[in-house]
Amino acid sequence: MRKKSVVGNWKMHTTADEARRLANAVVEGVGNDDRVSVALCPPFPYLALVGKILDGSLVALGAQNLYPEEEGAFTGEVSPTMLLDVGCKVVILGHSERRHALGESNAFINQKVRAALSAGLDVILCIGETLDQRKVNRTESVLDRQLIQGLAGLAPDALPRLAIAYEPVWAIGEGGHRATPRQAQEAHELIRNSFGKLFGEKPSLALAVLYGGSVKPESAAALLHRSGVDGALIGGASLNADQFLAIARAGIREPKTKGVAA
Ligand code: PGA
Repeated sequence: MRKKSVVGNWKMHTTADEARRLANAVVEGVGNDDRVSVALCPPFPYLALVGKILDGSLVALGAQNLYPEEEGAFTGEVSPTMLLDVGCKVVILGHSERRHALGESNAFINQKVRAALSAGLDVILCIGETLDQRKVNRTESVLDRQLIQGLAGLAPDALPRLAIAYEPVWAIGEGGHRATPRQAQEAHELIRNSFGKLFGEKPSLALAVLYGGSVKPESAAALLHRSGVDGALIGGASLNADQFLAIARAGIREPKTKGVAA
C-alpha cells in the first residue's frame, strides 16, 4: 500500500508569528511518527523561517508555486533553485485558484512541472473540474486534458517524484459543497487510468493521488481509508494545528503509539 501523505496548503494566510507557532505545533505533533508523510506549504515570505523550524523533523517544506526559469529578469517571481535553497522538497502546481483567478493555462503549468522536476523538487500537480463541468458530465474529459497537457514531455525517471491532487473546484473552500468519499474515489480511478494510458501501468500503480477540497477532521478518515486515495491536500483546516494533526492521524490505520498518533 502507498504511504498516505497529508499536505497543508496555507495559501495567502498567516503572519510570521502565526507561521512560527503553527509550524512548531505541527513538528511537535508529528514527533518521530513516520507512518504518514506530512508537508507544510507556507507563503513565500515565510518559507525560510518555517524551513528552519522543520529542519531535522519529519515534516517537509513545500511551496505553493514557482516560475519556470532558473533565474533572470522576472520581477516578482521565484525560481525552483531558490525554493531548493530555502529547503523546499516539494511544490504545489496548477492549483485551481491559480488556474481560475490568475489565468494559468495547462501549457504554462506544464512548463512549471517540468522545471520543478528537473531542478529536483517533488511536484503535486492539482487538477479538477468545476461544478458546471461536472453537471454536464465533463469531469473525465477535463481531468484527462489537464493530465495530458500538464504532464506533456515528462521523462519517465521523473514520475516517482510526481503526485496528483484531485481537487474538484466546487469542493474547495467554504462554498458548502463537499465531495463524498465515493466521488473522490471514482475520480481518483479515472486519474489513475488516464495516467496509466500516458505512462504505463506500473507508474500508474505507484502514483500517489491526493484529494483536496474541504477536508476536515470529521471527514478525513472516510476519505483516507478509501482505496486509491493516497492522502489529502488541506487548505482551511491546515491553519489549525489540532485539526491538521487530526487529519494526519486519520491516515494511520494501525494501532497508535506515539507522535502523530499520540
Ligand atoms: P480547502 O482547500 O481545504 O480549504 O478546501 C484545499 C485546497 O485548495 O488545496
